[in-house]
Amino acid sequence: MKDLFSELETHEALADGAILMHGFALADEAAILHAIEQVVEAAPFRHMNTPGGFRMSVAMTNCGAFGWVTDRHGYRYSPVDPQSGDPWPQMPPILQALAERAAQEAGYRDFSPDACLINRYEPSTKMSLHQDKDEQDFNNPIVSVSLGLPASFQFGGLKRTDPVRKYALHHGDVVVWGGPSRLFYHGILALKQGQHPLVGSLRLNLTFRKAV
Ligand code: SIN
Ligand code: FE2
Repeated sequence: MKDLFSELETHEALADGAILMHGFALADEAAILHAIEQVVEAAPFRHMNTPGGFRMSVAMTNCGAFGWVTDRHGYRYSPVDPQSGDPWPQMPPILQALAERAAQEAGYRDFSPDACLINRYEPSTKMSLHQDKDEQDFNNPIVSVSLGLPASFQFGGLKRTDPVRKYALHHGDVVVWGGPSRLFYHGILALKQGQHPLVGSLRLNLTFRKAV
């Protein structure tokens, strides 16, 4: 049982409905990384193309009933991996449980994700400011888990031009946003060089969503 002081130290409110929980995933780091390896064996990382024809610098794969994909036809969720034609690998129970536990801790009771996007950042890659809006129901929050090298997370508002704050996300940190901040713009600045003892010269991000 955590005491009030450690609670205050580890949770940081970003906006109404949005919270950064420092170190929330640390206790399970080995099992989480193992689960990711298993997913990647079945559905390797790949660089997808934006509808406008640009190759994304961040490599991606998915697990769960639905996976987020992008190609010249647009952004969407697909029940199959377009590269293999097979369903995405099942969401490993350890990942599902982590996402649900994080959502609960953040005050979102009934979150049950059916999609987990796995992002792989190499040094100098980034994710431009965007909204997560390809899901059917915005009542469900987003749960985002950071692993490996640290990154600078931008978190703004409902409009692209709203002021943006920057937060350092470290290995094991979890951000949850929903409710009034569900559609807030966010992004990741270019990753700095570095070496993480477990993950190497990479950052991994898990983004859990209820897509359908
Ligand atoms: C995303 O918004 O899809 C990724 C965010 C992150 O890598 O932390
Ligand atoms: Fe996003």
